[in-house]
Amino acid sequence: MTGLGAEDVAKRYRQFAEQECRGYSELYDELAVAVSEDPAILEFIATMPVIQPNLFFAAIQFLTRAAGMPKTASQLRVLVRTRDREIADVMRSHRTQTNEVGRCSVLLRALPPGPLALVEVGASAGLCLLLDRFHYQLGSTSLGEPASPVQLRCKTNGPVPVPTAIPTIAWRRGLDAYPIDVHDQEAVRWLLACVWADHPDRRRRLEGAIELARAHPLVVNTGDLVDDLPPLLADVPDDAQLVVFHSAVLGYVDLDRRHAFANILADTSKRRDVTWLSNEAPGVLPEMTALSPPGNERQFLLGRTRFTNGQRRDELLALAHPHGADLTWL
Ligand SMILES: C[S@@+](CC[C@H](N)C(=O)[O-])C[C@H]1O[C@@H](n2cnc3c(N)ncnc32)[C@H](O)[C@@H]1O
Repeated sequence: MTGLGAEDVAKRYRQFAEQECRGYSELYDELAVAVSEDPAILEFIATMPVIQPNLFFAAIQFLTRAAGMPKTASQLRVLVRTRDREIADVMRSHRTQTNEVGRCSVLLRALPPGPLALVEVGASAGLCLLLDRFHYQLGSTSLGEPASPVQLRCKTNGPVPVPTAIPTIAWRRGLDAYPIDVHDQEAVRWLLACVWADHPDRRRRLEGAIELARAHPLVVNTGDLVDDLPPLLADVPDDAQLVVFHSAVLGYVDLDRRHAFANILADTSKRRDVTWLSNEAPGVLPEMTALSPPGNERQFLLGRTRFTNGQRRDELLALAHPHGADLTWL
């Protein structure tokens, strides 16, 4: 139990509808508003250890599959009334998990020329580490593997630099507290259930990326992004440029751990240069938030920090849709 009451839950779901779904997912917008107005569903969610909308809707989709997801408030009410125990079991035994390859359209813009040694923290199944195996439509430019099962599109605003080639990736490694094994059918089913049910394109590209990860195995270490980062960085070969990146990750750890993470990168830069790419919600990294235009609450901040000899230089490059659907270059 979180100690939160029905009114707190209602507020969270209203916010989710307004700030994360509106104009992006009609279905989840409608369902989240329905939750916020239904006393019985609010009571049910308030008894859960985690009330997060994404967890609640993923638990439902895990049970119903995408095609059987409720479409209306009344269908949702009936489902929660008749399958409350099953939903509660899934919510208690799972955590929200995503691996959103759409974010690669954003990260790609900020990569230096290769050869690169890529380290992703909070990598989940590590699918974003396969960014050189995807196909990108960036405005009128197409890039990457035309026949890739992962086809990414990203609308752009402002003078976005268009890369002419995907840098060579000489080495890659992920780190995650709870990595997803792409060969574990149940884990994959949960990963897919976390994709919003009315986003079949996102689902298809995730399935495509899983297929690629099965064919081209990746290493994702199990561990904490602070405690277990130094030994991982010690393994990175010297003959490639080190890039450490993450998307939708640092918000899961306290501010002092975010500082500790940055300090590890600064220390590492005393023996080799480090490029740090961050793609996080506003407020997560104070240095990037300070550079952000006022009034931005929804778009992620794509930041690039270059560390040399322990010194950092921060640039805020772009505002990005949280799943990489569009990008505004600053
Ligand atoms: C929202 S998911 C994002 C996954 C991936 N970066 C993406 O863009 O799709 C957050 C990930 O961070 C991982 N995570 C959270 N706290 C962590 C920590 N302290 N150390 C390592 N990984 C962590 C979670 O296990 C999860 O896989």
